Amino acid sequence: MVRTQKPQGEVTRGTTAPNRLRRVDRWIAATQTAVLRSGGFPLAVDLGYGASPVTTFELYTRLRAVSPRLEVVGVEIEPDRVAAGTAFLEATGPHAGLSFRRGGFELPVPRPPVLVRAFNVLRQYDEAAAWRAWDGLRSRLAPGGVLVEGTCDEPGRRAVWVALDPDGPQTITFAAHLPTLDRPSGLAERLPKTLIHRNVPGEPVHDLLTVFDRCWATAAPHSAFGPRARWIEAVKLLARTHPVLTTPPYGGRRRWRLGEVTLPWRTVAP
Ligand SMILES: C[S@@+](CC[C@H](N)C(=O)[O-])C[C@H]1O[C@@H](n2cnc3c(N)ncnc32)[C@H](O)[C@@H]1O
Repeated sequence: MVRTQKPQGEVTRGTTAPNRLRRVDRWIAATQTAVLRSGGFPLAVDLGYGASPVTTFELYTRLRAVSPRLEVVGVEIEPDRVAAGTAFLEATGPHAGLSFRRGGFELPVPRPPVLVRAFNVLRQYDEAAAWRAWDGLRSRLAPGGVLVEGTCDEPGRRAVWVALDPDGPQTITFAAHLPTLDRPSGLAERLPKTLIHRNVPGEPVHDLLTVFDRCWATAAPHSAFGPRARWIEAVKLLARTHPVLTTPPYGGRRRWRLGEVTLPWRTVAP
């Protein structure tokens, strides 16, 4: 009898929606281009794609635009959701280099991935399990590979994600639909599981969001030119006290005008 390993992890709610991960996909395509093209047969995993494979298909479309040979595998722990992925391929495919399979944190893929995107997956685990998942997933990356783990709201207007390489967490990115953002600390509810309980006075992430709110208030006169102008000014003010990444590919006006800001992980590390 062939024994198959039980997937590592737990089945959780499968909520997803078309286009909700556009902000993180756009960031991955712009900042991780070199690693997405690295090696002879680069492979990306979308871990925990949920009740519909739509966001995996979007990831595939967006990343193949910058890395045409990239293979994308959607991995889900819940069997009916894997069947939905396969049915999607039968109905719309074939799409060369796109597939779906059952699995968990062990990553049942034929070679180490250059990218793992895990979005809205770890929030339903406890904090200790989220740290363990980070360690396990980054240890399974290809050399120079990246794990992008984060959360967003249902329509994808607020998102926060952390990028980790095999050595550990490297950056944190905050991204928002600016016309509907009251203040930067509105993003706190989207912090990854490893940080969400740390948003309390005395913790670095709380300090960052408090200062960012102050910068946002100071930048209020720039609203006359629209919310993007206000965000860009607030980010510039924040950069006076915090190590905002200010040069491409992670920083600069081109990224900030999208409602993004990226900082080194050490800025928020608990
Ligand atoms: C809320 S859905 C997220 C769907 C999609 N990534 C998104 O952001 O729209 C979370 C999914 O992750 C799956 N999941 C949770 N833990 C997992 C694991 N260890 N391995 C694979 N899938 C997992 C759940 O079964 C669920 O379908």
